[in-house]
Amino acid sequence: MTGAVIVHHHTRYKTYPGEVTGIVVFACLIASVAGCIFGYDIGLTSGLTSTEPFLIKFFPSIYEEMKKQVVVNQYCKFDSQLLTLFSSSLFLSATIAAFFAGPMTRAFGRKWTLFAAASAYVFGACLGGVSVNFPMLLTGRLLVGAGVGLSIHASPLYISEMAPAQQRGMLNIMFQLMITVGILLANMTNYFSSMIPGGWGWRIAVAFGAVPAGVIALGALAIPDTPTSLIERGDTATARKTLAQIRGVGDVREEFDDLSTASQDAKAVASPWMELFFGGKYKPQLTFALLVPFFQQLTGINVIMFYAPVLFKTVGFKQNATLVSSVITGLVNVFSTFVAIMTADKVGRRALFLQGGTQMIISQILVGTFIGLQFGMSGTGAISEQYAMCIVLFVCVYVAGFAWSWGPMGWLIPSEIYPLGVRSAAMSVTVAVNMFFTAFIGQIFLTLLCHLRFGLFYFFGAWVLLMTLFIAMLLPETKNVPVEEMAHVWKKHWFWRKFVIDNTDRSAEMRKRIALEMS
Ligand code: BGC
Repeated sequence: MTGAVIVHHHTRYKTYPGEVTGIVVFACLIASVAGCIFGYDIGLTSGLTSTEPFLIKFFPSIYEEMKKQVVVNQYCKFDSQLLTLFSSSLFLSATIAAFFAGPMTRAFGRKWTLFAAASAYVFGACLGGVSVNFPMLLTGRLLVGAGVGLSIHASPLYISEMAPAQQRGMLNIMFQLMITVGILLANMTNYFSSMIPGGWGWRIAVAFGAVPAGVIALGALAIPDTPTSLIERGDTATARKTLAQIRGVGDVREEFDDLSTASQDAKAVASPWMELFFGGKYKPQLTFALLVPFFQQLTGINVIMFYAPVLFKTVGFKQNATLVSSVITGLVNVFSTFVAIMTADKVGRRALFLQGGTQMIISQILVGTFIGLQFGMSGTGAISEQYAMCIVLFVCVYVAGFAWSWGPMGWLIPSEIYPLGVRSAAMSVTVAVNMFFTAFIGQIFLTLLCHLRFGLFYFFGAWVLLMTLFIAMLLPETKNVPVEEMAHVWKKHWFWRKFVIDNTDRSAEMRKRIALEMS
């Protein structure tokens, strides 16, 4: 059986025989739990450092200072760089781990990298949970960070390599869905564990991350590695068997041949890092490897994810209402992700980016304006209930916009646009940039809020405007395009075609073959 050919933006792309089998769904589900442990830490971060017993135990002097502070200006809350650095240490550790993830996924495969990552996480979370002194606590946090860095490198790659092109968007966005579930889970764990008498509830919150990580570790033992990764490591027999199994058809010759060809091309790349940065052949991919994660963080989303409780308190919410509001934004985040799951392979990546981006800009301007109208420049005054509700409402509109655009696309696009030769290296760049700027935004948010005041929302709004224009002009549509045929989308793009050096006859050969099949 030969694959069909589908027409997409005037270019014909192949569809290989096969379907979404139960194995693929199961394997992608396991891999996507990596998103859950990442999200869990995003959600845990804010809760932990505002837990009194935790602060008294590990940061007593900061706790004393915090108690003494009298808030006059609502924009300038207590800010300890040291405390935020402790929070950020997880993401900084993940930044470093991302660089090791490249060589690891190449040498040992996606599956074993996931296993190693999850094991490091389990160990780190348990260590953090039982820690009696600061060195133990920090070691646990760094190990968890390493687990996060490695797994969010391997997981999107794994999913995109397993999935048939037609459903790649949908399956890959399960990763983002798990991130949002992880955030929500952490928000709720924070809340319930803080009610445990005796002040040790934070230990449960910290150690609980070991549960989803354990699921990945055990699950990784049961799932196959991707055919691409098996071929890359020379095990072609298992690769062929796995491909037939995951596609659910006997004859996978065509897809297998294309994967082998891609692998041969990849072997010609002696040093992926040098090639990516200095080879000159991968300018569009390098641009997106750097800018997609940078822009994703500059949307300001983690201001909401890390600081929603602080923010809602700033606008005058009581402790309980504050918590309820962050659970509401958490739920909006989870449910809006389904919009992307259901539409990414139909309306395409660009449409989601452009719609979501526009929605985010408008809501950021409104949130900034509402806060500005109430607190002005001085940050004094109180906010009426109606205003506060409006703010929560537009924060939700903003979160929804992110949840079907930059959230999922921030991981989907990088996982599908890199050619195999530089795929692991480019993914390392993406993860490292993402982690670094996650830490960076967390580190500077309180200082920024104190200086920019309500203008902070305009600041992030302006970034979203810039990145939406960038996408409108420079991102080619990638829906339904098999990863091995991605080179075509650059060659056809009005801007990027100038930068793509086509030095193989293979693409011409492929076009000829496709034309033949069409006739
Ligand atoms: C981002 C995280 C963010 C999360 C929110 C992810 O795609 O990488 O930084 O906190 O989405 O859902």
